[in-house]
Amino acid sequence: MPKNLLILGGSGKSGVQIVKLALERGHKVTAYGRNTSNLKEDHASALSDGSLTLIESEITSLREKLSPILGQFDAIISVLGPNSLSYTGTEIAQLYEWLLSELRQLPAGQRPYLLLTSTQSIVDPEDGFDLFTKIHIFFIMTIAPGARRETLAIKDVFLKEAKSQQDDVDWTVGRLNLLKDSGLPIEGGKAGYVAKNGWISTMDRAQLAYWLIREAEKEPAEREWVRKMPALWGDNVV
Ligand SMILES: NC(=O)c1ccc[n+]([C@@H]2O[C@H](COP(=O)([O-])OP(=O)(O)OC[C@H]3O[C@@H](n4cnc5c(N)ncnc54)[C@H](OP(=O)(O)O)[C@@H]3O)[C@@H](O)[C@H]2O)c1
Repeated sequence: MPKNLLILGGSGKSGVQIVKLALERGHKVTAYGRNTSNLKEDHASALSDGSLTLIESEITSLREKLSPILGQFDAIISVLGPNSLSYTGTEIAQLYEWLLSELRQLPAGQRPYLLLTSTQSIVDPEDGFDLFTKIHIFFIMTIAPGARRETLAIKDVFLKEAKSQQDDVDWTVGRLNLLKDSGLPIEGGKAGYVAKNGWISTMDRAQLAYWLIREAEKEPAEREWVRKMPALWGDNVV
């Protein structure tokens, strides 16, 4: 059944693939980005037939734009994430904290499923040990301390949620290690924990797009990863 999806970070590298696939699968899409010119160029017909709506603004002005429309969505997919070495601030974590409280203002049963991505710098107690991941986390911490601060702020928001007794909003944080664009089959996405059950450190963005959209298409009773932070990875088979 077609869904009404809000995609945050829709103009970024993963976001464009998610928007494209969501439209191909017949969903109604609202996509947010700071600069959406790439989406305007790629989806002129979806924009004119109303299947795609764009929200272009700085993240600090996003709340007033989203507040009146949040109840329309079945799911919110966010692939926002710090994307420069000089990144500073915790605006993304603050947006998520605000979103959770806004979703709670909506009538139960009308609260969109919040599906977002972050990094494996967020360690889950279920994770196994992987030396490459530990080194990678240390490397990122050293070269991009601001990005790490944002990631840890996102972790704090959802760790608090996970520890609370509140189970009135469905959310999932998919933790990624290295994203690629290698043209692998899109169906290969998997969820679980680091160094367990065939985990590998990479995922194709097309596989991420497919995994997120398939999750967003599920009915509440079918959602396996609600209130959890699974690692996501891809199939390596060519
Ligand atoms: N790339 C990787 O190898 C990797 C590894 C681990 C985790 N991840 C996670 O995977 C997801 C997708 O990553 P990606 O590499 O495909 O995407 P990306 O191109 O880095 O996209 C990140 C998106 O976040 C937006 N963004 C960042 N800071 C923002 C801010 N302060 N206000 C508004 N928008 C902001 C960017 O907007 P602009 O285009 O306007 O900057 C962009 O649309 C992210 O959640 C990321 O943290 C990626």
